[in-house]
This record gives sequence, C-alpha cells and structure tokens, in this order.
Amino acid sequence: MLLQIPGVLGKDQVASLRRVLDAAPWVDGNLTSGYQAALAKKNRQLPQGDPVARQAGAEIVAALEKNPLFTSAALPHTILPPLFNRYGISEGFGAHVDNAVRTNIDTGRRIRTDLSATLFLSEPDDYDGGELTIEDTYGAHSVKLEGGDLILYPATSLHSVSAITRGERVGAFFWIQSLVRSDVSRALLFDMDVAIQSLSAKVGADDLAIVSLTGTYHNLLRQWAEL
Ligand code: NI
Repeated sequence: MLLQIPGVLGKDQVASLRRVLDAAPWVDGNLTSGYQAALAKKNRQLPQGDPVARQAGAEIVAALEKNPLFTSAALPHTILPPLFNRYGISEGFGAHVDNAVRTNIDTGRRIRTDLSATLFLSEPDDYDGGELTIEDTYGAHSVKLEGGDLILYPATSLHSVSAITRGERVGAFFWIQSLVRSDVSRALLFDMDVAIQSLSAKVGADDLAIVSLTGTYHNLLRQWAEL
C-alpha cells in the first residue's frame, strides 16, 4: 500500500527545520548505502548521529506519533531515527530496494524495515526532476509532494529518485518496523479502521455494531501483532 500523509509538519516547522539543516555538514550519501544501492546513488546526506540530524529527526518522530493516519497505516513498532538527504542538479538515485535490516544507532538494536517513508522538505516548485518513483503490483507511481507531506510505502518496493534538472530537493527518509509484518494484513487493518472511523462518525461510537467491529479490529491485530 502506498499512502500519502499530508501535513505531517506545518509549513513553519518545515521552514525552521530547513534553516538548521541547510547549515549542517552534508556528506556523500553513500556512507549509509548497501553495496548495490551505492552503485545507483548520487546525493548528499547528514551523517548518522549528527546533532542537527538527531534533533530534526526527533521533531519528525514526535509529529508522527501524534498523527492518527500514520499510526493507523504503519502500526509502528519502532521508527528508526530519520536521515536527511539532499539532491542537487544531476543527482538522483537509481532503482533499488532498501536493506531489509538496519541498526538503530541509538539503541544498538536491529530492526526489520517493513515500511519506508520519505518526508518532503522542499516545495515542488523549488526543483525540476527529483520524483520518487515506487513500483508496486499495479505499476510505477511517481510522487512529488508538498513540503511537510509524507509518502509511506512497503520497503519491499523497487524505487528510485529521478535526476534533478533545476534547484534542490531536501527530504527526510526513514524506516519503520511495524507491529504487523505483512503488508496485506496491515492494509486490511487500515481499511477496516478507516471504515470504522467513518461509520462511527455517522452512527456514534457507542453503536453496538461499531463496538463489535472495533473489537474485531483489535482481535485481528492481536492475532497478527509481533512485539
Ligand atoms: Ni531507498
């Protein structure tokens, strides 16, 4: 499932993050890549553990934890501290699949990357090119979102960032281990949650059918959750 989550950060928050990020020490992006990905990658990143990246990442995670759409869709077990990338003219990232397992440098724990996410920190008018293209069973989807918007997609997907031809594209990217490993099961739970919320707004949360459906949602999650 590909899901756009608008307004994870407000425009003011994006602007203040960009002020601190733009002044930080950017390095060659291949420092975080796996072997195959490094062959296709041309961009810059903030070093993992850089204090500016840590602070900005914590702000993003705090916003995500308060976002009901993100929580419902990702069912996060662990969110890895966000990383930051920057693509200038002629930079891009060829088709690749992200590494399956990554280490959280703060805790030393390894996580399984079930979901990948990109949070756009540039406005679409700031650059040409730079589309994130994600392939799923229905074909290739290109996204270029407003600053502060997020795209969430299965980490199993082949994806790429097309070369920039004007301006610069700055973004945060990170991975999530979900409580529910299967993308199919997670998507079923998300659809069910959205339908329950919508019905509940019409008939009231205390309607017996809503209470029963909500119970079924939690019982399915209980079946599928891995802690
Ligand atoms: Ni990637």
